Amino acid sequence: MASLDQYLEDNADQFQEDLFELLRIPSVSTDSNFKGDVLRAGQWVADQFTAMGLTPELIETAGHPLIYAETPHVPGAPTVLVYGHYDVQPPDPLDEWISPPFEPTVRDGSVYARGATDDKGQMLTHIKSTQAWMAVEGKLPLQLKFIIEGEEEDGSEAIYKYLPENVEKLKADVGVISDSSQFAPGQPAITYGLKGIVYFEIRLQGPKQDLHSGTFGGGVTNPVNTLCKIMSTIIDGDGRIQIPGFYDDVIPLSDREREQFAALPFSDEEFMNQIGVDGVTGEKDYSILERRWARPTFDMNGIWGGYQAEGAKTVLPAKSAAKFSFRLVPDQDPQKIGAALEEMIKPQLPPGITMKLKMLHGGQGIRVPLESPYMDAASRAIEAGFGTAPVFIREGGSIPIVTEFREKLGIDTLLLGWGLNDDNTHSPNEKFSLADFHRGIKASAHLWSELSKVSPKS
Ligand code: BES
Ligand code: MN
Ligand code: MN
Repeated sequence: MASLDQYLEDNADQFQEDLFELLRIPSVSTDSNFKGDVLRAGQWVADQFTAMGLTPELIETAGHPLIYAETPHVPGAPTVLVYGHYDVQPPDPLDEWISPPFEPTVRDGSVYARGATDDKGQMLTHIKSTQAWMAVEGKLPLQLKFIIEGEEEDGSEAIYKYLPENVEKLKADVGVISDSSQFAPGQPAITYGLKGIVYFEIRLQGPKQDLHSGTFGGGVTNPVNTLCKIMSTIIDGDGRIQIPGFYDDVIPLSDREREQFAALPFSDEEFMNQIGVDGVTGEKDYSILERRWARPTFDMNGIWGGYQAEGAKTVLPAKSAAKFSFRLVPDQDPQKIGAALEEMIKPQLPPGITMKLKMLHGGQGIRVPLESPYMDAASRAIEAGFGTAPVFIREGGSIPIVTEFREKLGIDTLLLGWGLNDDNTHSPNEKFSLADFHRGIKASAHLWSELSKVSPKS
């Protein structure tokens, strides 16, 4: 590994330049105005594989393209399916960015840009480590199959369709994804649990147009009042979700797991400081880590209706709307929860209001078994890259494709997050530590070596 490590050192600056080039492409998948940019980012990823001597495919889909590339099969060594995404979240609110979101800027050893940590920087670590192997050894010690998508932040429709139609092509022994976080600065982690999600939009329509709230108020059902009332029935004061049957499939936290969470160095105070609050609330009788990692949650993501500009306007609005989501734990089923939610809300609709309730997307949560030779290999690789052995954590975020890998391909996935909890993912001033970028590349280069020593089952 010495000459590989040397190659990584010699090319560190070039790796950074390449990352910045990718970060300059505003590949916002949810906004159709950026469709051309998303394509450009996909093409950029494909070009990376071409440059190292592979023959990538840019797969057109109904949405944004998928990129596929593979290295040759190595008999007796496992095949690894590497996933990442080159699309990013919208950068708004723009005026809160210290430097513009698509002009990567280095401050205090981190690069600031939308997508820096989620997921361009993390994804690129696996591409660069592969480039290093190709350059130094001319080949990989095991087979890698890369599947990189461009609509993860918008529901992953294309890959959901592609995966079951290409099971033979994507066949592998284990998955690898870097799209999550370390436990803390200097403390890398392997994530063994992710939450699922189910996401809704609700729209209420009252009178055919806005009305004078004095002239009409009291005589007409107000859709904003109604929305607030309905939404407030979803969760109670103890943080318990009130949808009938909601907790039926929730796997309770074991005593062992609670002890493991409690043993991690976590300070409620520091957590509150990091996000700038003087207290927190949540489901009764659970710690902050338990609630974030292993208990289902409900969050309103946006709510609107009526007058929002300066001063007072006495109006009875015609419409109201909200976006809201539930984070789910294994084995909760998004479809089942969706149906139960609709059943709970529908009877609450008062006369004079019509409702459109739409499920925007859903995905199941997952737990990856801790005892496996692949996990051990990943542990050793992280120690080689970061100088510290990883701790094992769960996460509140969702990467629904991990469940698809399990169900459609029959494989578990190693979730090796190089980010930090304060990287501002999905929010202004997203960043990624450049030291972690390089440590991630090194860990990844060692991962291919460590995994190649595991004998595959198939
Ligand atoms: N990389 C995140 C998921 C993540 C974040 C996992 C932090 C672990 C720790 C991913 O890009 C993401 O944002 N996923 C969405 C999924 C949704 C759109 C289906 C999420 O979690 O909100
Ligand atoms: Mn991501
Ligand atoms: Mn994301």
